[in-house]
Amino acid sequence: MMGKLDITALPSPTVRPSQRLDSVPLSGIRKLFDLVTPETVNLGIGEPDFQPPAEALEGLSQACKKGHNKYGPTNGIPPLRKAVAEYSQRYNADLEEGNVIITPSGTSALMTIMQAFVDPGDEILMPNPGFVVYKPHIMLAGGVPVEYSLTPGDFEPQIESIMESIGPRTKAIVVNSPSNPTGGVISAETRRALGDIAKDKGLMIISDEVYDRFIYEGEHHSFLDQLEDCIVVNAFSKSMAATGWRMGYAISNTGAIDEMGKMQYHMTACPNTPMQFGLLNAMPTIERFLQEMVPVFDKRRKLIAKRIDAIPGFEMQMPKGSFYAFPSYDAEISSGDLAMMLVKDGLVCTPGSAFGSAGEGHLRFSYANSEENIEKGMDILERVAAKL
Ligand SMILES: Cc1ncc(COP(=O)(O)O)c(C=O)c1O
Repeated sequence: MMGKLDITALPSPTVRPSQRLDSVPLSGIRKLFDLVTPETVNLGIGEPDFQPPAEALEGLSQACKKGHNKYGPTNGIPPLRKAVAEYSQRYNADLEEGNVIITPSGTSALMTIMQAFVDPGDEILMPNPGFVVYKPHIMLAGGVPVEYSLTPGDFEPQIESIMESIGPRTKAIVVNSPSNPTGGVISAETRRALGDIAKDKGLMIISDEVYDRFIYEGEHHSFLDQLEDCIVVNAFSKSMAATGWRMGYAISNTGAIDEMGKMQYHMTACPNTPMQFGLLNAMPTIERFLQEMVPVFDKRRKLIAKRIDAIPGFEMQMPKGSFYAFPSYDAEISSGDLAMMLVKDGLVCTPGSAFGSAGEGHLRFSYANSEENIEKGMDILERVAAKL
């Protein structure tokens, strides 16, 4: 008889990760979050402090009661796909239901794209600094992440850096505007240049537009009008303040959507059925919801920018979109150590290094939080900065 096994001992010699998974580091910010207490001001997390629209909550509840609790179509329920196509026609009037796949989150849309379109050894260009999942998702598909730089200050993709990085194995370019973590928004000129590169070099663009409605200056330049070369990722997480619902979508040509559907079937069979009915019920009122939420964020953006500007050694261009401030600081301390100092004083933010090597020397603050918390957080930042 064997003795009682210790199931808390890690790592197990038998239940061990694939080399693929082993090659991907765990998020570097977990240590920080371990130090959070209920009193900590949390400007670390990227989610709206609003609740989803009442119509979404009511639609979800009704869907469950009416029996919409079963498997649904792999690419999402047709009326929601159609509603998303119509909602997105602001960028391309030809969009139809067949151009849309509903996914269980923006993250899963990105993962499905990488699994569906990247072969081992394919090089995928991605921004540095950039959203934390791009690199691991590329690597988990066997691809090779190749980072491109952003322009200083306004954080636009640097076209020369992209051109220099393109080689015979390049398959795709990941673009993210408005950006997490920088708050940068691409100009019409950059949008055009990227579209031309895709055409000239035969590359695919994976455009992450989850913050497309969070624009405070200028306008959003979508890739939805070039769907022969592009897949656009979006999510209800931010636009419906429903991060916990895990619902997103991707839009592309119908061929690409079919391929994604094939992969999505094997990953999850279908997106969550009652959630889709909930969102469907809120689609007719989404504009009203956004008109309430986005101006509140704009006010907070101005507040946090004013507070950061007044701190000696901190510098930032006004973010134009998303809901993050990404200031640089002038001190001999890593962003990880500085974030750790801040959390000990009661403020959580995200070290810039979590978003890539070019994020070092920056901190990311989410301003999707109350003005009161932003003021408290900035008081702490001011105090800690004075000690540097
Ligand atoms: C740029 C960007 N893309 C995608 C996502 C993923 O969104 P979701 O919560 O729907 O997975 C996020 C979430 O923070 C994000 O910031």
